[in-house]
Amino acid sequence: MSDTVYLNGEYMPLADAKIPVLDRGFLFGDGVYEVIPAYAGRLFRFEDHIVRLNNSLREIRLDLHKTVAEWQAIFQPLLDSGKDEYIYLQITRGCAPKRDHGFPEHVVPTVFAMCSEIKPFPGRVTGVKAVTLDDTRWQKCHVKATALLAHLLLRQEALDQDCAEAILVRNGYVTEGAASNLFAVIDDELITPPNSNEILPGITRDVILELAAANGIACKEDVIAVEALKNASEIWVTSSTREIVPVIELDGQLVGPGKPGPVFQKTDQLLQAYKQSLA
Ligand code: PDD
Repeated sequence: MSDTVYLNGEYMPLADAKIPVLDRGFLFGDGVYEVIPAYAGRLFRFEDHIVRLNNSLREIRLDLHKTVAEWQAIFQPLLDSGKDEYIYLQITRGCAPKRDHGFPEHVVPTVFAMCSEIKPFPGRVTGVKAVTLDDTRWQKCHVKATALLAHLLLRQEALDQDCAEAILVRNGYVTEGAASNLFAVIDDELITPPNSNEILPGITRDVILELAAANGIACKEDVIAVEALKNASEIWVTSSTREIVPVIELDGQLVGPGKPGPVFQKTDQLLQAYKQSLA
């Protein structure tokens, strides 16, 4: 992690970045965030991330407007062109004079950004185990909210079961992972649940859909019943920091032959080539 971070208009060493305890992010989780990868110093699908950020801000009624160029100017000094990194951006409603659930007036949002190295996730190559769990989250999963307690409990439950990810189930259908989107190959077709308030509209997910469509991989956005997932020949979870991770065991049963499948291999190559082409 770079030692320099950004907080409310200033750059400073991480150790000097402090927020008051009355900040609503601390008291209520009243804020939103983004995780934006950067390869060789170039922010990946940057405009898409800012569109999603603006949607999250609008959904939580937090008034903060910056252009793509203004955000870029804030992040650029944090980046190191020699590394694969990601920007973590967090915006809270700010620091009110007292703890009160209603939104405070005339409060300046807190804006924090830091940059960390993306370390290749080992499970990308070997595949990982996953477990299905009840999706206990709220009804606005399309908002990238900092209030992540339900996600944390679900991820930890998966880790406790020696799994890398929880695959979440709502009313008999899978939604996404605790911190990832979900893809499955069923009857030779790549399927991912459609965007809705039940999932985060992942940027990696969008890129995969575009690459599949452009390269003749049969692909559709459709609901996936949990029973159908159990018969999938491939399952993947996707995110900005882990990219595409094949799931080779679900609920203790092998997925297909229990190793990363051919559609994963092809799509992963396409994703790596696409990243290279932009960097
Ligand atoms: N999380 N769904 C959830 C619930 C997520 O938290 C994430 C990513 C994704 C994938 O979105 P994207 O492809 O844009 O990274 C889907 C990030 C990485 C995090 O919380 O650290």
